[in-house]
Amino acid sequence: MLIDTYGRVATDLRVSLTDKCNLRCTYCMPEEGLQWLAKPDLLTDDEIVRLVRIAVTRLGVSDVRFTGGEPLLRPGLVGIVERCAALTPRPRMSLTTNGIGLKRTAAALKAAGLDRVNVSLDTLRRDVFKTLTRRDRHQDVLDGLAAAHEAGLTPVKVNTVLMPGLNGDEAPALLAWAVRHGYELRFIEQMPLDAQHGWKRDGMITAGDILQSLSTRFTLTEEGGEERGSAPAERWIVDGGPHRVGVIASVTRPFCSACDRTRLTADGQVRTCLFAREETDLRAALRSDATDEAVATLWKLAMWGKKAGSGLDDPAFLQPDRPMSAIGG
Ligand code: GTP
Ligand code: 5AD
Ligand code: SF4
Repeated sequence: MLIDTYGRVATDLRVSLTDKCNLRCTYCMPEEGLQWLAKPDLLTDDEIVRLVRIAVTRLGVSDVRFTGGEPLLRPGLVGIVERCAALTPRPRMSLTTNGIGLKRTAAALKAAGLDRVNVSLDTLRRDVFKTLTRRDRHQDVLDGLAAAHEAGLTPVKVNTVLMPGLNGDEAPALLAWAVRHGYELRFIEQMPLDAQHGWKRDGMITAGDILQSLSTRFTLTEEGGEERGSAPAERWIVDGGPHRVGVIASVTRPFCSACDRTRLTADGQVRTCLFAREETDLRAALRSDATDEAVATLWKLAMWGKKAGSGLDDPAFLQPDRPMSAIGG
């Protein structure tokens, strides 16, 4: 079991498959991209499957999410999913993607055993998409979403980050669109994880702002009860149901006390938190012929050291050295 000193148990593993991306969202990376990891530093497909196997067979992990960068850029993705689906116990598997390329791969991913996808889309306007991501690929994302829905990678969730002056006024239109298509929309507060270190708390649209904007057009009822579990999103029932909308308020309403996550970077480092400042090198262990038991012990030790929270409210908060795209979101 991956337990920490605060009694939290990590059952949800997020595996970054690459730090590369085919978009350049302004809140994530600069136009010129970043210094990508070198190929030999990336975990191989075999190493990823071995670590997932150790996590599900020895450490109590029940849910695996593949992330990036953009995970659809990883050539071996379908094979990795297929091999992880053959594990006993079989983990639930999901993917967080920008949606480009899903049109081509959704059916194969479903057939390989992927359960569902979360797709990032911040705007319904092609021109705003182009400004925000610095690429003219809006239609590809819409097509990818439709293909995922069609392939049964459901519930299809859409992740949206709102920014003032860009897409800040789009919350009601995005929700109406998501309801119409049967996607579950979640708004995410922008976090200080951009490579450029440009995040400012006062430049951020908060959960409170979003709920206020949505309530001009919808009746929202807090879902409450046990349903949230450890999920980062708080959910509201839209106009009496059945649709829901979520808000991931990592900054103004952090959920660290219920966190059930452990993370692996594409170069095989365990991170206990998005905002952790330390990493534990499992790749080195794998490449020096460590046994499964020894790797599991290292992973347990890493998680034992997980901090209480993100530290965002600490005046001495320091952004992690690696940006979101290298950590895996
Ligand atoms: P579901 O299982 O579908 O709820 O997935 P998810 O929301 O956990 O995953 P997703 O990859 O879609 O992430 C949505 C947003 O939540 C992203 O901005 C993530 O960075 C953020 N997020 C995911 N895990 C954590 C976490 O442990 N802490 C914080 N602060 N944010 C997180
Ligand atoms: N703050 C909040 N969310 C972010 N994402 C990327 N960078 C940030 C950030 N700095 C979102 C992406 C994607 C999800 C994995 O995280 O838009 O939907
Ligand atoms: Fe790519 Fe995601 Fe970063 Fe956008 S937020 S540039 S889609 S990794």
